[in-house]
Formats: sequence, structure tokens, C-alpha cells
Amino acid sequence: MKEQLKLPVFNIIKTLANKDNLQVYAVGGFVRDLIMKRPSKDVDIVIVGNGIKLAEAVAGKLPGKPKVTVFKRFGTAMFKYNGFEYEFVGARKESYSPDSRKPSVEEGTLEDDQKRRDLTINALAVSLHPDNFGELTDPFDGLNDIKNKIIRTPLDPDITFSDDPLRMMRAVRFACQLNFEIYPETLQALKRNKDRIKIISKERISDELNKIILTKKPSAGFKILHKTGLLEIIFPELTALKGVETIEGLSHKDNFFHTLQVLDNVSDKSENLWLRWAALLHDIGKPATKRFTKSGWTFHSHEFVGKKMVPEIFKRLKLPLNEKMVYVQKLVLLHLRPIALVKEEVTDSAVRRLLFEAGDAVDDLMLLAEADITSKNEKKVKTFLKNLEKVRKKLAEVEEKDKIRNWQPPVTGEVIMKTFNLKPSKEVGIIKDAIREAILDGKIPNNYDAAYNFMLEYVKTNNILS
Ligand code: CTP
Repeated sequence: MKEQLKLPVFNIIKTLANKDNLQVYAVGGFVRDLIMKRPSKDVDIVIVGNGIKLAEAVAGKLPGKPKVTVFKRFGTAMFKYNGFEYEFVGARKESYSPDSRKPSVEEGTLEDDQKRRDLTINALAVSLHPDNFGELTDPFDGLNDIKNKIIRTPLDPDITFSDDPLRMMRAVRFACQLNFEIYPETLQALKRNKDRIKIISKERISDELNKIILTKKPSAGFKILHKTGLLEIIFPELTALKGVETIEGLSHKDNFFHTLQVLDNVSDKSENLWLRWAALLHDIGKPATKRFTKSGWTFHSHEFVGKKMVPEIFKRLKLPLNEKMVYVQKLVLLHLRPIALVKEEVTDSAVRRLLFEAGDAVDDLMLLAEADITSKNEKKVKTFLKNLEKVRKKLAEVEEKDKIRNWQPPVTGEVIMKTFNLKPSKEVGIIKDAIREAILDGKIPNNYDAAYNFMLEYVKTNNILS
């Protein structure tokens, strides 16, 4: 351990600890990541005493004297140095009231501080005093839990989760991120305490959800969230996808597990959080559109309904209501289009329309469409993937030729108004749409002269301005 504690900040702490005989420790996620050899840029330091004073003393001895930010109310202080973020806090005892997240804080010993942490793997401390520099204090067997890949709370899980219910999300997130198992008693407590999640702010819940979505195999996290009943509370639209109905011997697939498979498939190919969100939401409109008809189960227009549901979900989960959301909506709306294209003959005009509508999201749309093929019939999967490959080729060819991807009208509204001496009006829109349709249909090439001549002809033959 000693060789891994070579940061200059630790040397300064060591000297100060020696001089004033301070009990100082590196704790929490930093120690966990050190043991697991995972990269970590946040260092939490606990001192039995005053954390703010220590932060100021350490920063004062560092080259360039980094600025210390003090949070008096929490008794913490932090500074950034050499790409690391150091947070200092005095060891605490905390007790929470049952209906609030605001703890009352008292000074405590190292063990008090370790007890109030979320998981045994996050409750390890390493001494920074020269007498026992690098020595591990591990009262809850966190090291063994790391070795055995176990997520467990240091205290009775009912206490730990009730103190800060976000820890339930964190337990699931760490299980998924580190590929650990949740200890049976801890899992039971997640089920028992699930309703406490309601007192946690949506932002904090979504932060954890995003961390789960960004893991290698996010389905694992969602399955635990589902099994414990947490998902039903935080994301009922997803649990509504669950289940298989059978009428007259005809069943539809379980859209919850299908969605999770699609999410994993996309995650194999891309780290893009919002593409992963699109995968999670691509079929979200299915429960509302499910019908049993003469020809079996249908989910007509689920892509339109799904697109409409995205803003409600983003708003509730306090996700960004900006271009990221618009991108997710676009992918949800268009997710069936690539595969629909190959069912028909792949015409230039259909490909041009898809390029126009998807714009820069077209490559991600293709990834989503490929990920959406989750049939167990391998032959079927192969055929679909081969067909989608054809669509990719065609998309590239048409884009090369027609430059539709970031399409800008070759004849602007200004030119239209000037040519026909018009004020901004409905007619300008009609003419603009007609030019766009002619280009997308391949009737005219995508350039100014062709569009201008088409416009003159169109206005004349359709009596637009009479
Ligand atoms: N902690 C806790 N309960 C919480 C949040 C954090 O007990 N709800 C404790 C844990 O000991 C954790 C430490 O505070 O290790 C630091 O928290 P944080 O930086 O949020 O998490 P890390 O464990 O460092 O992991 P990550 O950076 O991946 O979130």
C-alpha cells in the first residue's frame, strides 16, 4: 500500500501528522479504488479533529498554494492539486432523523466515521501518520468483501439505508459497476426500505441511474432495481414494459427484457450516454399502444407515443431538457425506420428521407437498429444484420452524392420572398416545402440552380400566388 501513497500531498500530511501527532487517514472510495487498482481522482481525508484547519495547512505548503474551498456548515474543505481533488473532513458521528436527509453531526472517532459509511468496501481507512503509514483499518471486513466481490453495509442495512436512502441506488450501482453480488441480507433490506427512496431528490437518483447506464452491462443494474421494487418507484414506465400476455395461443415478447438486451447491445458498441438512454426508451410507447388484433399483437405508432413520452420522463428525472433530449426523441421516433427500409426495396428516395430526418444522428440510429434485433432465431438475426449493412452502404452512397445529412435549403426563404415580392407568409412555407420534397424525392438535384428553376415552374403551374 505504501508505494501507492506517493502523492506529494500525502508527504505533507505525514509531516504535519508527525509534528502535531494527528490521526489522519485516507478513506472511502479512494482506498477501495487503490486496492482494486482502479483509477481515482478524488481523495477523501479524515482527521480526528479539524478537517478545515488541516486542509489549509496542507494547501499552504504545496507549490502554488491551491485555493481551499471551505464548507463551514459541513465542516469540510477541499482543494484541487495536480488533477486530484482532495476533500478534508473531521471524523464524525452522525444521526439522521427518519424523515430528513439532514444529519445532526458530532465529532467522533475513526471508527464512528467508518460506521456511518454506505458499504464495507467504502469504509476502509489507510493511516497517513508516519508511525503506521499505509496501515489499513478495516473494522467491517471490507477487504474480504472486495476479494469476494460482495456489496454489504457496515451496519444493519436497515440503519444504513434509512440514514441515507440514496445508498440503495449506490449499492445497486456499485454491484453493476464492479460486477459484485449484493449480500442476501443487504438485498432483503433494499426490498424492505425501497419506499424511502421517495425522499431523495430526483437529481441524485438520476446521477446514480446514469452511472448504472454507463457500466459495461447496464442490464444487471436494472434487473436488481426491478427485483427490489426500486424501479417501479423511480421509473414506472420501464416496469410497465414487463410481462408477456397470451391470447388465442399468441404471445408477444417481454418488452422489459428485450429493452435491457437492446441497452446491453448498444453499450457493447458505444459509450454515448444518450444513445444508451435512447435504447432504454426506444419501446417505451409499447404498453400504451398494445392491441390484440386478428393478425396478432400490434404496437402501432409506439414510436410516436414513445417520442412524446420522452420529455415527461426527462422532466421528472431532472435530466437535461436540451439538445440531448431532442436527440433521444429523434432516435425513439426513427428506431424502426432502418429495418422498415430493408423490408421494402431500398430506394434512393427513402434513404434520402431517412438521412434528412436523422441528420447527424444517423450513425447512432443504425447502431440502435442493429441492437434492436434480439431474436433468438440466429438465422433471422443474420439476415436482418445483413440487410442493415446494405442500408448502411446505401446511406453512405446517397450521402456522398446528395449531401442530405445536414441539409440546408439551397434556396432560402429570403430568395423566395425577393423573387416573388412576398412578405413572410404561408406561401413562402409552401414553396419551401415543395423544393425540399422535390429534392428528397430525387426529382431535382440538391443545388441552387435546380431548386431555383423548379421553384419558378412550381409556382407557375400550381397557381400558388394567384
Ligand atoms: N458515502 C456514503 N454515503 C453516501 C455517499 C458517500 O457513505 N450516500 C461515503 C462512502 O464512504 C464513499 C465516500 O463517502 O466512499 C465518498 O463518496 P463519493 O465520492 O460519492 O463516492 P465514491 O465511493 O468515491 O465513488 P464514486 O466516485 O464512484 O461515486
